[in-house]
Amino acid sequence: MNQPAAAPGAPAEAAVETSRLFVALWPDEATRQALHDHQALWLWGRQAVPTRRERLHMTLFFLGDWPLAAKPALLQALAVPFEPFTLTLDDAGVWRRNGIARIGAREAPPELLRLRTHLELALARLGVGGGTGGFEPHITLARKAQQAQPPRLPPSIRWPVRDYVLVESELRPPARYSVVRRYP
Ligand code: 2AM
Repeated sequence: MNQPAAAPGAPAEAAVETSRLFVALWPDEATRQALHDHQALWLWGRQAVPTRRERLHMTLFFLGDWPLAAKPALLQALAVPFEPFTLTLDDAGVWRRNGIARIGAREAPPELLRLRTHLELALARLGVGGGTGGFEPHITLARKAQQAQPPRLPPSIRWPVRDYVLVESELRPPARYSVVRRYP
């Protein structure tokens, strides 16, 4: 939609500064290595773009562009009840609907589901909706992976989850993720 031109001499509207944020589980070094080793067992084909080792993570809640002014409230709200748990990653495959190759858990631990529910409630209090799709806990191993084939033997990676993080995603090259805060 076209914006009306500002009247001559009118103060320019200040752009709202935002950062692109999401809440995630961030693998410890041993789990990250195990995920990276697992990636090497796939037959990727030509098109697939495997996720770089340092970017492997499980998103709990994607927040999108978040106004900087509202960041302190967010940092506070994200301190929700958390129980440590072990996540067994034993299910690898490709979602044909979007070409995402992913690894996840056949059964999500109740602690993970409770954490997600606590985050949803905390964010709802800030006026943030959970989006339309349900929660499908996964780690994206590659994109554009329609042709990719997972290893014949299912994976079995035990991930001791001791915390969760708020991450900033910078899209400008060199695109990178940085952990803003670790909880609890
Ligand atoms: P994905 O790996 O399944 O694409 C950072 O972009 C993280 O947030 C990714 O793990 C991505 O999941 C997730 N995410 C969820 N919803 C998103 C959206 N609408 N846009 C971009 N990333 C999203």
